[in-house]
Amino acid sequence: MNENDSERISGLLRDEGAQPEDSLEDSDIIIINTCAVRQKSEEKLYSLLGRLGDLKRKKNITVGVVGCVAQLYRSGLIEEKPVIDFVMGPDNYGQIQDILANQTDEKIVSTRWRREWHEVPSSKVHRKRKTSAYATVMEGCDNFCAYCVVPFTRGREKHRPERHILEEIRQLAREGYLEIQLLGQNVNSYRDPETGFSFEHLLKGVNRIEGIQWIRFLTSHPKDLPASLARTIKEAKKICHQLHLPLQSGSSDVLEKMNRGYTKEEYLEKIQMLRSFLPDMSFSTDIIVGFPGETEDDFEQTIEVLKTVRFTNIFSFRYSPRPRTAAAKIEDSVPFAVKRDRLLAVQDIQKQIQLEHNSSLIGKTEKVLCIGKSKKDHRRYSGRNEAYQVVNFHSDLDVIGQFVDVRITSCGPYSLHGEIQELIEKS
Ligand code: 5AD
Ligand code: SF4
Repeated sequence: MNENDSERISGLLRDEGAQPEDSLEDSDIIIINTCAVRQKSEEKLYSLLGRLGDLKRKKNITVGVVGCVAQLYRSGLIEEKPVIDFVMGPDNYGQIQDILANQTDEKIVSTRWRREWHEVPSSKVHRKRKTSAYATVMEGCDNFCAYCVVPFTRGREKHRPERHILEEIRQLAREGYLEIQLLGQNVNSYRDPETGFSFEHLLKGVNRIEGIQWIRFLTSHPKDLPASLARTIKEAKKICHQLHLPLQSGSSDVLEKMNRGYTKEEYLEKIQMLRSFLPDMSFSTDIIVGFPGETEDDFEQTIEVLKTVRFTNIFSFRYSPRPRTAAAKIEDSVPFAVKRDRLLAVQDIQKQIQLEHNSSLIGKTEKVLCIGKSKKDHRRYSGRNEAYQVVNFHSDLDVIGQFVDVRITSCGPYSLHGEIQELIEKS
């Protein structure tokens, strides 16, 4: 979602005649789009601001901090870090042109919530890639998981009208995009604010758009995932059989403390239900280790779920206390060294699972959407298969932006490697 926000900001600035620069030193305006989900990303911001302080002493630059850290600390951030000229929250990007037109030295704080959806026309989004595009479905979150800062930085859920979403995707299809990724913190709770139609209705609408060939969506919440969604995925031929379904913990006790709204058993039932409709469905997930009070037994249960589900890919994190969240009010009781060891153990086991799974694909042919090319080796391309795995392959033809068949010849735990078999013509 942050990447998509950066594309929107970049588009709005280009619309005003701004040009991107490769180096900070050559830029007049520097805007940092921030993530507040973990302390570590916040720290990266502070170290970059230190560098910008040195630059600002030599050169007249405007420094803006936008995104979730800006929204979290608002004017406090400017008071703390005087190098910043403006802060702007995720709900206020539409005002970026006005802020930059401001000729005074006054510092600006733009972090007011808006209750309604604010439409940024698709033409104003500068997309980095020409093959696969994000389309926002909803913003904000009403779930208040105990560890998560997002409801405080992105506010309550706001749903984008279905007709705007479909219009944008039709336009993207006309421009030649082949893959659409629908974005929202909890896409399953989406309702069209104008008609009340569900997320599945939207998916069926996207599925009918000519030219679009692969549809993905994230993030789904396990507690809001009905069997009818599995049926829709099966019937709508363009929706990839791949789902990101954050587990967070394999212990029902921890899940309850996290306020996730499901137990370990219910999570496993959802996976089983999805696999009964779609046996080839591939899953990825998010795991947090070291949530306050997590015992060795709780942790073992997370490992057990990893071994049972055998995710294609996981994102795993050490618990990090975040301001204003419910969990920050309880003691961060798991020592750092324990969190570190548990994270390493999770990653170790997952690495093994991925290596086994990827090895089973050797000799098979995968349909791949080619997205990029190596800078060093002009015959080496890279893309993703339907399961959203990275596939690197050799080709004599330039196949960027196209579907190709790739025969897998080797693999590592995090990627597949192969040779192009044939170019699949664009429909
Ligand atoms: N500490 C560690 N990980 C977190 N996440 C969200 N908040 C925290 C936190 N306080 C993780 C969750 C979420 C992903 C986007 O980031 O796993 O799904
Ligand atoms: Fe955060 Fe939970 Fe909302 Fe996801 S569902 S954004 S983890 S509060």
